[in-house]
Amino acid sequence: TTHHDFIRGLPKAELHLHIEGSLEPELMFALAQKNGVQLPYATVDEVRAAYDFEDLQSFLNLYYAGAAVLQTEQDFFDLTHAYIQRALADNVRHVELFFDPQTHTARGIPIATVFAGIARALREARTSHGFSGGMILCFLRHLSEEDAITTLEAALPLRDQYADLWTGIGLDSAEVGNPPEKFAHVFAIAQAMGFRLVAHAGEEGPPAYIHSALDVLQVERIDHGVRAEEDPALMAKLQQSRMPLTVCPLSNLKLCVVKDMRDHNLARMLRAGLCVTINSDDPAYFGGYMNANYIATADALQLGKEELLQLARNAFEASFVTPEQKQVWL
Ligand code: HPA
Ligand code: ZN
Repeated sequence: TTHHDFIRGLPKAELHLHIEGSLEPELMFALAQKNGVQLPYATVDEVRAAYDFEDLQSFLNLYYAGAAVLQTEQDFFDLTHAYIQRALADNVRHVELFFDPQTHTARGIPIATVFAGIARALREARTSHGFSGGMILCFLRHLSEEDAITTLEAALPLRDQYADLWTGIGLDSAEVGNPPEKFAHVFAIAQAMGFRLVAHAGEEGPPAYIHSALDVLQVERIDHGVRAEEDPALMAKLQQSRMPLTVCPLSNLKLCVVKDMRDHNLARMLRAGLCVTINSDDPAYFGGYMNANYIATADALQLGKEELLQLARNAFEASFVTPEQKQVWL
């Protein structure tokens, strides 16, 4: 329909994309074979059949197992390159991608290998397609704050080399029981060093986690944030500050955060004046990249063209690029 064509034609920015979550089963198999990694599946179809999640943790178990096939700089390049091809096909012009170094350093992969492969793909895409990219290093919240500090210290020698890409620090993995304030010190260090800050909050965790991400960690965007709706005072605060929420509709559906897309609160939050954006989260696992997320949401919630345009604009507005670059886009 014309509505779907309108979505496909919209220039988009993606602000919530875990690069490890863009690992398609075909590439997972190819890398497993090349690197001699044993996968608990015989075929690509078996992998896809396993993507039937009941909650965040049931997904994370497969996501971390899958990431074990990533070993060389070329593997991280291939992963990122494949994501960028999908993004370009969806008319995504800018991505600020998350990566989880601890998932790789725990397996003996040097953090420099992770940075190098991802960065080479982003820089190549900038040169060949004018595709704009950023990197947000995420700490795994199920691990200790000490481990996060060690990771930040290991990455810091790379900062100058990747200054054109590495702009931010984030927080992901198992939310409930691992509140933002567990990472207060490491976020304070990162903030003092001039990093832009984000955190997953209010995906499965309560509104109190959104409050502490804002007040304790002092993040500039909330990743997910859909449970904010349970707290009217928080909703008012998000609306007044235009605090961006990077919402991931197909993810929410696959991880049973919502039962049916028609129940999703994205449209209500948008219509309440919040700075809502649409993102794909872990597209290889959740059944769709950016356009699929926009289309599923627009169809279920009857979003109009003005609303779709607002969602796309919100993402450029909420991005961590220079004011000059924003002017070009907006
Ligand atoms: N939530 C928390 N951690 C994650 C996610 C998510 O949606 N995706 C990858 N790691
Ligand atoms: Zn996420």
